[in-house]
Amino acid sequence: MISSCDLLKNKVCLVTGASRGIGYAVAKRFAACGAAVYANGRREESLKELLSLNGNCSGSVIPLYFDVTDSAAAKKAMMQIKKEQGKLDVLVNNAGIMKDALIGMISKEDMHQVFEVNVFAVMDMLQLAVKLMSRQNSGSIINLASIVGTNGNRGQMVYSASKGAVISLTKTAAKELASRHIRVNAVAPGVIDTDMFRSIGEEKMKEKINLIGMNRAGTPEEVADTCIYLASDLSVYVTGQVIGVDGCEVI
Ligand SMILES: NC(=O)c1ccc[n+]([C@@H]2O[C@H](COP(=O)([O-])OP(=O)(O)OC[C@H]3O[C@@H](n4cnc5c(N)ncnc54)[C@H](OP(=O)(O)O)[C@@H]3O)[C@@H](O)[C@H]2O)c1
Repeated sequence: MISSCDLLKNKVCLVTGASRGIGYAVAKRFAACGAAVYANGRREESLKELLSLNGNCSGSVIPLYFDVTDSAAAKKAMMQIKKEQGKLDVLVNNAGIMKDALIGMISKEDMHQVFEVNVFAVMDMLQLAVKLMSRQNSGSIINLASIVGTNGNRGQMVYSASKGAVISLTKTAAKELASRHIRVNAVAPGVIDTDMFRSIGEEKMKEKINLIGMNRAGTPEEVADTCIYLASDLSVYVTGQVIGVDGCEVI
């Protein structure tokens, strides 16, 4: 686990959904590795802990409050980054929601909500980031997918479909943007110990952990370390990939 380094020194990064879970760990780790991190949260108080890192790490954390489904607000946030930094090196599309239900029980409202956050907002943020990155002829976009996006899972038709879409849009964007040196990769976590995982309840949590070769849930920091690699120049020739972070989960 990387606690600090200078791999992201002078990099300007935007992390969506940084208030908790994986996004929080990514923003915290990026700042520890020297990045100027624009951390997205929906509510002011939600980024308090991250902002307290300022002065205690080699990078910095700058708050950006908006809902990723609000296109106009996302555009405004991107304009702020352009004005303040003149560039964007890394976008981490992390914000996501999960609504589990068996096929007969899924409501139209849930289908729409999951796709609004997990797919449409990801494409929107990607489009906005590419405008900035194209001018500088470089950039790294990291999309949070999921192991269920490739394997599927009982009770997760909508969520797994949304993550499958994230994987295919990642591969397509990588092909389209490679000539501009903009890399696009996906990270596909298995079971990671966050509020999202805990929301399934104790019994299901145990069942899921039994399917993991390493016999434990991953930590948000372990996902963040893979994001550091993809954000850094260590991965300059890596694009269009889906990197599993799942402790050998068998589903
Ligand atoms: N945990 C896992 O086992 C797992 C496995 C595979 C993939 N993933 C993916 O990894 C990502 C992070 O998951 P997590 O486990 O860290 O989830 P989490 O603990 O539930 O946190 C989700 C984050 O997304 C934010 N968010 C949700 N909707 C948003 C919106 N409309 N606008 C802005 N922010 C929004 C939340 O903000 P608020 O605090 O305001 O709600 C929160 O910061 C997601 O894309 C998820 O699908 C997670």
